[in-house]
Amino acid sequence: MVRLEAVTKSYAHPGRGRLIALDEVRLDIARGSVHGIAGFSGAGKSTLLRSINLLERPDSGAVLVNGEDLTTLPERLLRERRRRVGMIFQEFNLLSNRTVVENVELPLRLAKTRKSQRRERALAALASVGLSEKALGYPERLSGGQKQRVGIARALVNEPDILLCDEATSALDPRTTDEILELLRGINEERGITIVVVTHEVHVINALCDRVSVMEKGRVVENFALGTPIAPQSSISRYLFGQADRPSRGWQVISDAQ
Ligand SMILES: Nc1ncnc2c1ncn2[C@@H]1O[C@H](COP(=O)(O)OP(=O)(O)O)[C@@H](O)[C@H]1O
Ligand SMILES: [Mg+2]
Repeated sequence: MVRLEAVTKSYAHPGRGRLIALDEVRLDIARGSVHGIAGFSGAGKSTLLRSINLLERPDSGAVLVNGEDLTTLPERLLRERRRRVGMIFQEFNLLSNRTVVENVELPLRLAKTRKSQRRERALAALASVGLSEKALGYPERLSGGQKQRVGIARALVNEPDILLCDEATSALDPRTTDEILELLRGINEERGITIVVVTHEVHVINALCDRVSVMEKGRVVENFALGTPIAPQSSISRYLFGQADRPSRGWQVISDAQ
């Protein structure tokens, strides 16, 4: 579904040379899976996520989605492909001067969907996240969990194949976090949408993911699949997942550092 091949991305930091945010990252994300990207702040998780729809263009390497290398596409085709990818954020990124339903309609406007269809589809997306009755209100009146539901409705309104989540529950309390994780799991199971979840919280991984790649300093250092428990090998994974005799939900190493 998604394959990153030797993706490298660096940023110029004035006076300190270039900082390598992604260092020849290789990654495979299976169709229909929920794939976690875990690691501490600054590991490169957001940069990796944003490179999947080329919001961040790699310096080198290939980003394959359904076998097609996005880095070689002309801008017009790239815009089209991006519509197949939804994204949600920690800060929700809703427009405060637009109603809830207008926020959800935005991707349809960008896709030049006919006006007559826009409202209908946005309302259907809101219904699917349980927020129909808030459609004509403004985002500022909503709780954090409700705002993220609007974010999810907006991400789903174009019926994407892939949903990218960047710390989507990090601003929410534990109970609301679990509600949103359950909603995402349902979306994955019912619609078969591939979900990529960036997080620094092991709870999110345990509650949601089929697989997880652990990042450190711009590299994927370990990949795990849900399965029989064996010890995480890298120190970062041990820190995130606990000791071998106390595996959080039976994670199994499927490949070591590249
Ligand atoms: N637009 C940018 N300009 C300069 N440096 C950046 C930019 N985006 C990210 N970085 C740097 O790249 C590294 C990885 O960042 P990021 O992908 O946001 O990590 P994470 O999401 O794991 O916290 C960090 O050191 C960060 O400061
Ligand atoms: Mg980040």
